[in-house]
Amino acid sequence: MTMHGNGHSSRIEGFYRLSRQERLTRLADRSGLDQCEVAELAEAVPLSFDAADHMIENAVGVIGLPLGVALNFLINGRERLVPMAVEEPSVVAAASHAARLIRDAGGFFAEADASLMIGQIQLVNVPDFDAAMQQLQAATHELLSEANAVHPNMVRRGGGARRIEVRALPETACGPMLVVHLVVDVGDAMGANAVNSMAEALSPLIEQKTGGQARLRILSNLADQRLARARCRIPFRFLDAEPFPGQEVARRMEEAWAFAAADPYRATTHNKGAMNGIDAVAIATGQDWRGIEAGAHAYAARNGHYGPLTEWRVHNDTLIGAIEVPLAVGIVGGNLECNPRVRFSLRLLGVESARELAAIMAAVGLAQNFAAMRALVTDGIQRGHMALHARGLAVAAGAPDNLVEQVVEGLIASGEIKLSKARQILESVQLGA
Ligand code: MEV
Repeated sequence: MTMHGNGHSSRIEGFYRLSRQERLTRLADRSGLDQCEVAELAEAVPLSFDAADHMIENAVGVIGLPLGVALNFLINGRERLVPMAVEEPSVVAAASHAARLIRDAGGFFAEADASLMIGQIQLVNVPDFDAAMQQLQAATHELLSEANAVHPNMVRRGGGARRIEVRALPETACGPMLVVHLVVDVGDAMGANAVNSMAEALSPLIEQKTGGQARLRILSNLADQRLARARCRIPFRFLDAEPFPGQEVARRMEEAWAFAAADPYRATTHNKGAMNGIDAVAIATGQDWRGIEAGAHAYAARNGHYGPLTEWRVHNDTLIGAIEVPLAVGIVGGNLECNPRVRFSLRLLGVESARELAAIMAAVGLAQNFAAMRALVTDGIQRGHMALHARGLAVAAGAPDNLVEQVVEGLIASGEIKLSKARQILESVQLGA
């Protein structure tokens, strides 16, 4: 069995069948979290109204969302228990199932770029583009120092403004514009506030250098210098799915990917499947998931047509999967620190840097996409959804561990996936047993 840095495996047999208390106890055992941290989860209020009231205007309450844990993730040889906040029933189970299969094939390999965010400064009425560009290039050092003076702490922690890039937009609907990109390493933060304040602080100097007028000064959510990547290699023998041999499953998955690569209607749904996983971790860990979504889809269209964020190719006797996606995520910052559930999720994951979190999220996105595609190319998606629902009903009807499967089979065969039917089947199974 592969172990976590702290000696724990992310495989927890029959987790879904345990009571909530038992699940929490197992998590405490497996994660290195202390009993108090885990016990806090069982408290009724995930976010106090006072905290909510400080976070947004006009607060009237807080809204609930299930928080689950995806199991079985082995990423770069490390075990990870993955918190996921999501309302869609099959997401956590599908991620865990995919992660289990992929761990047997060696797990995921994942990495993320340095946390480089882009702040944009829009300039209009620039008298001479070439001269402006030259001036900006000559003033690079001065501009970076001015930007860094806004966030000395970030610089002390090893981050700060790194580059100035200039882009000409010669033909917009309102005439020519020059756009200055300030590229900032925001370290372990999401980085929006830092980048926006640097862009604002820098714009008078940029106006002076270019003779133009600054308009918008705001980060870009197309964080294409902050990419995360994950990949996995799955030999055919791990892909067998009755009645299909693994080789056939792999071939169909490659065809499914090719469909997404050729057709934006399919690519959108394909990517939605990957984002099911990425968003669920983003929400559990308190990220700006709208920014992540916007960045992911813009990146998917970077080549001039919208395509899949993942790739699945057959090579010899192996299916190879990969994902590349911008992930502007942070593990420090006010919003993260004042939400106890977010703190819990980050502790459960055991991440020590924003890059580590981004790499894990990429792996979860790849796992989620794998699960959806594997179901789609074999049984179709509904069967798994129904089986999951039937399992939940069998457990809710009181089926003991050794009878759950029989009740599930009975429910599926009856075509009536209802609690009353589960009770009825359980009774007859028990009578017959
Ligand atoms: C459903 O939430 C996600 C899927 O539609 C993804 C896909 O089609 O690949 C199943």
